[in-house]
Amino acid sequence: MSSNGVVAVVGAGSMGRAILAGVVAAAGADVEVRVTTATHAGAARVALSSGVTIRDLESEPDANRIAVRGAALVVVAVKPSRVREVLAEVRDDLAPDAVVVSVAAGVSLATLARALPASVAVVRAMPNTPAAIAKGVTGLAGDERVTDAQWDLVRRVFESVGIVVMVDESRLDTLGTLSGSGPAYFYLVVEQMTRAACALGFSLEEASRLVTRTFVGAASLLEFTGATPAELRRQVTSPRGTTERAIAVLDDAHLDQLIVRACEAALARSRELAAEAEAEGGGRG
Ligand SMILES: NC(=O)c1ccc[n+]([C@@H]2O[C@H](COP(=O)([O-])OP(=O)(O)OC[C@H]3O[C@@H](n4cnc5c(N)ncnc54)[C@H](OP(=O)(O)O)[C@@H]3O)[C@@H](O)[C@H]2O)c1
Repeated sequence: MSSNGVVAVVGAGSMGRAILAGVVAAAGADVEVRVTTATHAGAARVALSSGVTIRDLESEPDANRIAVRGAALVVVAVKPSRVREVLAEVRDDLAPDAVVVSVAAGVSLATLARALPASVAVVRAMPNTPAAIAKGVTGLAGDERVTDAQWDLVRRVFESVGIVVMVDESRLDTLGTLSGSGPAYFYLVVEQMTRAACALGFSLEEASRLVTRTFVGAASLLEFTGATPAELRRQVTSPRGTTERAIAVLDDAHLDQLIVRACEAALARSRELAAEAEAEGGGRG
């Protein structure tokens, strides 16, 4: 069976749905996009977002096998603990010249390759949730079997939902601690500043609005002026002014070291997950 104008996405939860728009855009009009989910309810969530063929395992136990048949590209977006089971299920139905892209955290290229026929190329992608609004950052690492044409297709998928950073696999988990987990760090700061605003006398509605718009505005300024964050920070920080006092408090608390420690903790966890995936044939999300 050789690949034709078909792309399959196995698993369409928050990440699968976020990158589906990129898959549809990169595939082009002539290419059939097939999506699978575990449940009928999961399939219904996808149905709202695009005109693709959707199957679920509840209604069709062979849904994954049917979806990958003849696909040039198969994106696997199930939880890490499900990846090996899904690959074992579909391996005999894959086109020999297919490329399989896994977005699962901590499941190595070697683990993926071992679960697949030798001719099938594998890529690991580490996207982040802003891909849902085409503002994602995706790290990509692949094995030596990925052809130029396959790289071109894979890159187009993820460039359709944001920017792509090509890295060696050894740096992919580190990248995950920055861009993959980064949105959560940011939301935590937004949450804490909203809480501080409430403690300082604002209603929750006022606090949410003023804090969210402050961060969105500051991020847009960073993007659109091209100035460095340090330059923009200095513009807000007059000598002997109010912001200077606040920043001194954050410096005294060693914010720089805290951020490094948080990334190191995330990296240690991703290594644990990789070891578990290797030992158990899965891992955890
Ligand atoms: N969330 C992030 O920020 C992020 C970032 C980078 C990478 N990732 C990776 O993305 C992957 C998915 O994460 P997620 O947050 O999107 O998880 P999720 O929301 O739980 O979605 C998992 C999807 O897989 C489907 N599924 C489960 N078993 C299946 C099977 N056997 N065959 C076909 N589909 C199946 C589920 O179907 P139902 O909808 O019917 O349950 C669901 O659509 C994970 O491996 C994670 O490591 C996530």
